[in-house]
Amino acid sequence: MVDRDLSNELLSILQKASGNYVSGEYLSQCLGITRAAVWKRMAALKKEGFVIEATTRKGYRLSEIHQPYGRLSIQQGLATRSLGRELIFLETVDSTNNYLKQLASEGAPEGTVVIADEQRAGRGRLGRSFLSSPGKGIWMSVLLRPELHPSEVHSLTLAASVAVARVLEPLNIPGYGIKWPNDIIIGNKKVCGILTELSAEMDRVAWVIVGIGLNVNHRADDFPDELKEIATSLYLSQEKQEILERNSLAANMINQLEEVYTGYLEKGSSWIVDQWKGYSLTLGKRVRLISSMGEMVGYAEDLLPDGRLVLVGEDGLRHEVLSGEISLRAL
Ligand code: BTN
Repeated sequence: MVDRDLSNELLSILQKASGNYVSGEYLSQCLGITRAAVWKRMAALKKEGFVIEATTRKGYRLSEIHQPYGRLSIQQGLATRSLGRELIFLETVDSTNNYLKQLASEGAPEGTVVIADEQRAGRGRLGRSFLSSPGKGIWMSVLLRPELHPSEVHSLTLAASVAVARVLEPLNIPGYGIKWPNDIIIGNKKVCGILTELSAEMDRVAWVIVGIGLNVNHRADDFPDELKEIATSLYLSQEKQEILERNSLAANMINQLEEVYTGYLEKGSSWIVDQWKGYSLTLGKRVRLISSMGEMVGYAEDLLPDGRLVLVGEDGLRHEVLSGEISLRAL
């Protein structure tokens, strides 16, 4: 039997009352719990940042103005079957990927999501750090347990970038897209990075953690000097600069991720590659590749169904590249 989420039910009732009072008696009847238990749940909602007024005769009412960034608000926007149904929200953590790795090793189910308002030691690809300041972005990790061969996990990192690109679609942001393999960029600056980590045996994946960092409400001054030229946020990229609501964006990211993930499992990697090509800002361009083999400049010709990038070098030789980083800056 699935546990009832009483906090979520209580919040829905208060929200439906649109700022009017709801009596403790009514709430205890609706939820089938004592009035003391209602009071305890209310205290928990207040702790999450909801503004609730309590009056002895009238009961409780919820301020509609202030919607805190947190588990309940995010879960209200979910349309998923599995992803985010188990969601842990932390005010601060070293890295959501690290936190979820621990849960994964303890047997947490597929779909478990960890989101933090701040990461003190956010991690990026290739051993880099990832700036994750409080109040600014969405720092999220998602646990998947697909029945895949480890070599197929590369497609999942592409899938995650497609999910984020879909989230950006309705925001009217000009010039966004994916830089191979999975950076989301806007006007040549990075707005989102994805770090995929896995645990596997020789031929079977135990778990995959997809860690996504999306810069949402950063102003220019929120980036340190070394990032100012290479990083941006959704706020800075909109025509009309407006603070974006992180709860619905985070929920939408989880919704899109589930859609793309199930699409990939059902339709295979060539489907995900086609989706990826729809957002590509890489193919058809001269790029610089930096990989463990060194640096090379070439023409990004195609993306193979397994996610390898086809680069035609200046010497005319064709290379199929599985990992590395590319630069699209003027060559
Ligand atoms: C990159 O572009 O280098 C990847 C950045 C990935 C950052 C995210 S934020 C949530 C998750 N937790 C981490 O420590 N890293 C990922």
